[in-house]
Amino acid sequence: MAMASFLAVFLLMELIAGGYRDGANGLSMNYYFFSCPSAEAIVRNTVTSALQSDPTLAAGLVRMHFHDCWIQGCDGSVLLDSTKDNTAEKESPGNQSVRGFELIDDVKEQLEKQCPGVVSCADIVAMAAREAVALSGGPVYDIPKGRKDGRRSKIEDTLNAPAPTFNASELVRVFGLRGFSAQDMVALSGGHTLGVARCLTFKNRLSDPADPTMDSYFSKTLSKTCSGGDDAEQTFDMTRNNFDNFYFQALQRKSGVLFSDQTLYNNPITKSIVKGYAMNQAKFFLDFQQAMVKMSLLDVKEGSQGEVRADCRKIN
Ligand code: HEM
Ligand SMILES: *[C@@H]1O[C@H](CO)[C@@H](O)[C@H](O)[C@H]1NC(C)=O
Ligand SMILES: *[C@@H]1O[C@H](CO)[C@@H](O)[C@H](O)[C@H]1NC(C)=O
Repeated sequence: MAMASFLAVFLLMELIAGGYRDGANGLSMNYYFFSCPSAEAIVRNTVTSALQSDPTLAAGLVRMHFHDCWIQGCDGSVLLDSTKDNTAEKESPGNQSVRGFELIDDVKEQLEKQCPGVVSCADIVAMAAREAVALSGGPVYDIPKGRKDGRRSKIEDTLNAPAPTFNASELVRVFGLRGFSAQDMVALSGGHTLGVARCLTFKNRLSDPADPTMDSYFSKTLSKTCSGGDDAEQTFDMTRNNFDNFYFQALQRKSGVLFSDQTLYNNPITKSIVKGYAMNQAKFFLDFQQAMVKMSLLDVKEGSQGEVRADCRKIN
């Protein structure tokens, strides 16, 4: 009996300390263990029911997390609304498929009732993306928590987001500047196993001159999509709501949607990584989850560098 309770206390200590030991900076897996124990369950339940009525939202949440992290670090900057003297990140032309703002508001409202002022919007975005990946059939992994929310969100900051016209060497370079390896970059691009791209983002590949790296039958598919106008949507792979390795298989068939997708198969370094993922989904899942954890730690704000917003759309 004494042994059992000793063991229980020991395990509890491990659980609490474990996060701090493994976490980068002051973040930890169990950050809300005492301050808001229901945080993850609230995120999970809300994302689960939202995806039941709209499974395409998974893609929006994953993209939201990427855009949040890439610009100003993972600090909820993507969520802020514009004010009369500030045009926010979300007004950028690249914003349109960042979706799921209402879901984040919904989670925040529930969390403010349970544990006011405790769980940051940046952590909600990171947790929601994690749930979206898992619920779409992707890898299940844990992410450190403890990000603080930032106070800056400016449209001009979005200019340094990677463009769909980038070639593999540029992608390797810009991801490298943020601490990602070529393997991380290719694995993260695998986020495009979910969702769609609008014609606007790939129509330049169809003419003057047509992109020779594209399969000619697939180019007809894209042209057909674009006959519906700039906002017409093309799925990245055959299963837009399933997290799988079909995206990489499409690249092997020269049927990548964006130039920045197909280029990964045309550079010797990234090509071998694509081939590996197309052949071995488990390898893709493992590398993706590691790269997502890394991405979720990009320039995070801690302590007085940030705040916990009461409303994810406004600074306190
Ligand atoms: C490698 C550089 C990347 C480029 C150039 C890029 C570019 C794009 C573009 C142009 C779209 C379509 C947007 C639209 O139609 O408005 C898109 C969609 C998407 N991106 Fe990326 N992306 C990149 C990396 C990532 C990463 C790292 C992730 C997440 C891990 C991601 C997740 C997504 C998702 C899920 C969608 C679909 C959104 C939806 O259907 O609502 N992307 N991306
Ligand atoms: C995206 O930007 C456009 C203007 O470029 C704006 O009208 C729209 O409201 C923005 N979307 C979101 C979700 O804020
Ligand atoms: C990739 O793009 C950069 C910048 O536009 C260019 O200098 C380089 O030559 C391109 N590389 C290849 C292999 O096309």
